[in-house]
Amino acid sequence: MSLAFPVPLKPVIQPPPMVEEILTPAEREALKARIKTLMKQQDAVLVAHYYTSADLQDLAEETGGCVSDSLEMARFGHAHPAQTLIVAGVKFMGETAKILNPEKRVIMPDLQADCSLDLACPADEFAAFCDAHPDRLSVVYANTSAAVKARADWVVTSGIAAKIVKYLHQQGHKLLWAPDRHLGEYVRRISGADMLLWQGSCVVHEAFKAEALAKLRAGHPDAAVLVHPESPESVIALADVVGSTTQLIEAVRTLPNPEFIVATDNGIFHKMRAAAPGKLLLEAPTAGEGATCTSCAHCPWMAMNGLRKLAAVLESPAGDANGGNEIHIEESIRAKAAVSIQRMLDFAAAEKAGKIQLGD
Ligand code: 13P
Ligand code: SF4
Repeated sequence: MSLAFPVPLKPVIQPPPMVEEILTPAEREALKARIKTLMKQQDAVLVAHYYTSADLQDLAEETGGCVSDSLEMARFGHAHPAQTLIVAGVKFMGETAKILNPEKRVIMPDLQADCSLDLACPADEFAAFCDAHPDRLSVVYANTSAAVKARADWVVTSGIAAKIVKYLHQQGHKLLWAPDRHLGEYVRRISGADMLLWQGSCVVHEAFKAEALAKLRAGHPDAAVLVHPESPESVIALADVVGSTTQLIEAVRTLPNPEFIVATDNGIFHKMRAAAPGKLLLEAPTAGEGATCTSCAHCPWMAMNGLRKLAAVLESPAGDANGGNEIHIEESIRAKAAVSIQRMLDFAAAEKAGKIQLGD
């Protein structure tokens, strides 16, 4: 198995300053009422990620939309009949919705909401990586641009990455992986696949500290440690459960532990509290000796989403200065990216139906 890293360590992506929306109860109610009316008029459904504000998550559920991980966001938006999809999350989530639904209008509260993984993987550099290794299939994380997805053979999300890589490994394929080195390393460890890894990382999950986590856990012997696989290997090594955001919420709901230490964006606590109201939820530490916390367990790009911006976007006519914050993707790129995303959705459906057997 080749373990060589063919790409240099990417410079750390500087996240934007954290700006969270603060609303009075009266402002919140007025905005929600306005947005609900506009959504009805525009045949719109709201698909929100767990890391967005509690206000957006509540609004999505109150209006028949969904709050979920990135895999389910893609599936839900694709299956829903609404003509306008509002994606509250980051840019790659909006692009994925548009790739799968070219006939629909896909809008976002803020088109500047990016992701350090997406930013660390420019399409031309990724293409050069693929060109240098024509004997390998390319598997990219959903946290990438439409152009990177268009060049990839497969797209995966954290909820299904290990299963797909294991399957491809069992079919005898050698792989290229981009962009998250921690998720790639985790998937390589549990699948045994031969993978070359791009060296991107998530600014939020990279900040979790293993030593401080071990100390916190020692003080909470009944707690289960839940870790998103974008975290460093030393943090994953302390986990009782490693999984996508949906899988971590499920763990809080189903495990008997009275306490949980959670290593992912703290926006997820809104759903975790609802799933298990009596349980104690603790944030995994991002500080500690030598720490350089740039995100403090909350994604600054996810925080760009809010009710005020959503209302403004729904009120701005398409074709105005900001184009109504609509996502547009060149058709040749969209069509190619749709193939690699659809492979993942088809695999997920077949796996759910018991049509794919993965050995140990
Ligand atoms: P999930 O697919 O697990 O929701 O992860 C998306 C993400 O961006 C995590 O940082
Ligand atoms: Fe990207 Fe990390 Fe934010 Fe998820 S939490 S959107 S991986 S920067």
